[in-house]
Amino acid sequence: MHKPVVVRKAINRSRRTYEDGKRWLLPYKYPGVRLTPTRLLNYWHGRWERSRGVENVRAYPTMLTIEATNVCNLRCPACFTGASQAGRDKSMLSPTMLDRVLNELGSRLLQIEFYNWGEPLLNKDLCPMIRNAADRGISTIISSNMSVPMDDARAEEIVRSGLNILGVSVDGATQEVYEQYRVRGNLALLFENVRKVNAAKKKLNSKTPQLVYEYHLFKHNLHEVDEARRIANELGMSLRISKGWVAGPDWDTEREFDFEHDPQPGRCSFLWDHAVIHNDGGVAPCCAVFYKEDDYGTIAPAAVTNGGRAPLPVVDVVNVAQASPPVNGRTAAMSSAEPGVPLSTFHDQKFHDVWNNDNFRRSRRMFAAKPNEPRDTSLVCYDCPVTDLWRKQRTHVASGGAGNVAYPLAYNDGFNYFFSRRPERATSEGLIPLAEVKEKTIVV
Ligand SMILES: C[S@@+](CC[C@H](N)C(=O)[O-])C[C@H]1O[C@@H](n2cnc3c(N)ncnc32)[C@H](O)[C@@H]1O
Ligand code: SF4
Repeated sequence: MHKPVVVRKAINRSRRTYEDGKRWLLPYKYPGVRLTPTRLLNYWHGRWERSRGVENVRAYPTMLTIEATNVCNLRCPACFTGASQAGRDKSMLSPTMLDRVLNELGSRLLQIEFYNWGEPLLNKDLCPMIRNAADRGISTIISSNMSVPMDDARAEEIVRSGLNILGVSVDGATQEVYEQYRVRGNLALLFENVRKVNAAKKKLNSKTPQLVYEYHLFKHNLHEVDEARRIANELGMSLRISKGWVAGPDWDTEREFDFEHDPQPGRCSFLWDHAVIHNDGGVAPCCAVFYKEDDYGTIAPAAVTNGGRAPLPVVDVVNVAQASPPVNGRTAAMSSAEPGVPLSTFHDQKFHDVWNNDNFRRSRRMFAAKPNEPRDTSLVCYDCPVTDLWRKQRTHVASGGAGNVAYPLAYNDGFNYFFSRRPERATSEGLIPLAEVKEKTIVV
């Protein structure tokens, strides 16, 4: 029996208020993080700047998503990479680039996610890079399809790296159901790899990494949750069930499942607190950004960007939403009315300079206290549901409204916004062929 929506929302809201209050004082205790005075001071500074909507920030992000590689062996249909989209050149994050980032950000970071739109375990240098972060007292996490070749030595290397959390994307309990989303995935290989990591933990007497059975719920795998729970128990994994994104309308329109979805207006955490760096050094405003055209800058030396070739031209983007009906009356509108700033302008910059460049400042300005933002329509943040909700709330308050604006945001809208936003050249043309990155890749 499910609780009525109003009761659920009220419970969620009070829980959030409590958590928010607690979070003002102390950051979430990420496993493995070393809470130093520098980290705490930066955390408080950042929270203060976000609460004031400061545009030109002095604090550093406390979270970092850094893409170990954008290469993947699977073809999950609701993932850009799985859908064979080419956001940028295929490449591996290099230990040198990571070291540069950590020398600048490491003393303030609380956690690093070493994955975004590719399969992190395909990067041969992943473990030394995790070790580098762990040695600096930063909590580390990856999510992996684990359907990759792995011998005992590699399993031990993962354990020795100090990785805190290893999420495994499973989405099923039998091969037949699992492969409907994890196209090309091999469930027996995945479970065998989990056993190898468990054996390595035992051998090395290590409690880490914690293993998580990540189960994205879709219509087609609902009936295997109980079996997944049983397997997770057997393998010493915790089970985390979350709603799977699908392109188009939500499949759970009756809200049969009790996933928290009660969007609250607020300043986007990514713009103040959570940095996103791609495998090629591109700096994006959030982890949902996939295409290079939507990056806000880059920290890569010019020679690294675009495989050493001339920088990609900033091309116009098409409004693909026009071709498909809007969701909930909203479209993933994208305008090329304002030309982007060529990324070549930003080469080789320090992260913090990119973090405060014109694109970031303009996006933060969209979250100003008064609804007076300029029409920065070319930026990916402009039409994002988070910005849109903030804008609607400001208008609501300015016109005398009390409380939060009613906002019929479907669970899937955020995903649809990003997934339908594509540059004109959204084909694999002009990008480095996969074969050229094989040398640095675990061969699959
Ligand atoms: C794009 S993947 C990259 C990491 C890795 N290749 C993996 O699949 O775990 C990043 C995260 O997105 C999740 N993901 C992929 N497709 C999803 C979907 N349709 N709904 C929800 N999460 C999804 C993955 O399970 C993973 O946790
Ligand atoms: S395994 Fe991960 S990166 Fe690969 S296609 Fe699936 S979701 Fe995308």
